[in-house]
Amino acid sequence: MAKPYSSMSCLIITTFTLLHLIFPSQEVKITPPPLPILPLPNYAQLKWQQRELIMFFHFGVNTFTDREWGTGHENPAIFNPTRLDANQWVDTAVQAGVSLVILTAKHHDGFCLWPSKYTDHSVIRSPWKNGQGDVVQEFVNAAKARGVDVGLYLSPWDRHDKRYGKNKEYNEHYVAQLQELLNKYGDVKEIWFDGAKGSNAPNMTYYFDDWFAMVRELQSTINIFSDAGPGIRWVGNEDGFAGSTSWSTINRTLLSIGNSNADYLNSGDPKGTDWLPPECDVSIRKGWFWHKSQAPKNLSDLLEIYYKSVGRNCVLLLNVPPNTQGLISDSDVQRLKEFRSAIDTIFSTNLANKCSIKASSQRGGKNGGFGPENVLDNDHLWTYWAPRDEDKDDHWIEFKAKDKPLRFNVLRIQEAIGLGQRIKGHEIYVDGIKIANGTTIGYKKLHRLEKGMVNAYSVRIKIIESRAIPLISSVGLHFDPFWNSNGQVK
Ligand SMILES: *[C@@H]1O[C@H](CO)[C@@H](O)[C@H](O)[C@H]1NC(C)=O
Ligand SMILES: *[C@@H]1O[C@H](CO)[C@@H](O)[C@H](O)[C@H]1NC(C)=O
Ligand SMILES: *[C@@H]1O[C@H](CO)[C@@H](O)[C@H](O)[C@H]1NC(C)=O
Ligand SMILES: *[C@@H]1O[C@H](CO)[C@@H](O)[C@H](O)[C@H]1NC(C)=O
Repeated sequence: MAKPYSSMSCLIITTFTLLHLIFPSQEVKITPPPLPILPLPNYAQLKWQQRELIMFFHFGVNTFTDREWGTGHENPAIFNPTRLDANQWVDTAVQAGVSLVILTAKHHDGFCLWPSKYTDHSVIRSPWKNGQGDVVQEFVNAAKARGVDVGLYLSPWDRHDKRYGKNKEYNEHYVAQLQELLNKYGDVKEIWFDGAKGSNAPNMTYYFDDWFAMVRELQSTINIFSDAGPGIRWVGNEDGFAGSTSWSTINRTLLSIGNSNADYLNSGDPKGTDWLPPECDVSIRKGWFWHKSQAPKNLSDLLEIYYKSVGRNCVLLLNVPPNTQGLISDSDVQRLKEFRSAIDTIFSTNLANKCSIKASSQRGGKNGGFGPENVLDNDHLWTYWAPRDEDKDDHWIEFKAKDKPLRFNVLRIQEAIGLGQRIKGHEIYVDGIKIANGTTIGYKKLHRLEKGMVNAYSVRIKIIESRAIPLISSVGLHFDPFWNSNGQVK
């Protein structure tokens, strides 16, 4: 049996040798990507970062009492949305370009939007659907039908439950509710642990290690959000503004939930040993819950939030509260349409596409795969411009107009963060004159030019300081017709 096989291999080897003799110099040397610089995002964090805009829904007894923090003594009978339609919520999110929606399954008042078997302070005791309803289920169904991912918020602080303040009893109760939420409703992509707590609330030790381990056990691709991560960190304010310096890296050992330094959270740490990117949570209205007296923020406020969150290496978690009918109000739906349409108007055209591009150097030489043309493709992570390792400084990339001048007022720069966040300082020159500068870039940096519109033939981005050779994955030159620099410079 062995013989035919031997002749066959012999034939293959001979052919191979022959080919080598005919084409002796066909040796291909492909330059590999540079080594990553730690820490790196994990898979779930990288997916989360690319969402850019996600949506929060604060809904519960507070919607009906006109409060922001319930007392825990609300009568469940007040929870009676007459036209609740989670499909309308998720449609609103989809129209805004959102791929993840997060619901307050339980807020500080302790009222549960799902029929938890561990409490009767829930939809079970409400007149809505005669106590047979489950808002979490309807929310999950609506999201699933639209291909949108789900996140859940379960408030640690509970003003209703008598066990709150008794460490073992309350932690048992809390972990039981976590198990219900993370077992019953399919995939959950983000869990939100709010650090908020009243100043005279009972003392309470949360068993975070138990919570996090349980969450990871039940959901393999979830991101755990809290002031201190471990998956995503709070940005340190509720305005939707990240720091102008915004690192995805930080030292987790310096953070504690409900008690972290807001400035440190806001800017992160270039020496941070943990990848823990910031999320900017802000409400479209003044309050987190719906109030008759409040209206949605105007378009220019929403755009400012966008530039200072998504444009500063963050994901924007925008809260849109359903009203007492159980619907997103028309005014909010309309404002979100304007917001999405404005973002599309600004970013759908990239003037850099029509330019010729040069760079200070490129890894692997010409055709090495790391040329500056990579910043104009649609891959904003894994194709990038990289300079040569040998060039220690003076890294730059330049765009030149081919005929008429470039007219823009927004510049977008993105780093290949899959290999670590690197850039610490950069400057922008148009026709040789410096017009803007900044520190970090990260996944996305948007410069909305304070000087307003620029008319120029060349645009050069200079990297002046970096933790390792800079890797730039995308650049855009855009025109924002909504930006009137004179009125709005801060
Ligand atoms: C919580 O503990 C601190 C320090 O142990 C104490 O000063 C404070 O009075 C306690 N608060 C309550 C509400 O029990
Ligand atoms: C964070 O940790 C790194 C490594 O231990 C250290 O060099 C750096 O100083 C720390 N950052 C702060 C703000 O302490
Ligand atoms: C938008 O609202 C803010 C207050 O939040 C106000 O200062 C600003 O003038 C408004 N802008 C426009 C264009 O209406
Ligand atoms: C930007 O440039 C100005 C003037 O040269 C300088 O004072 C400032 O520190 C720079 N800012 C950053 C973030 O590099």
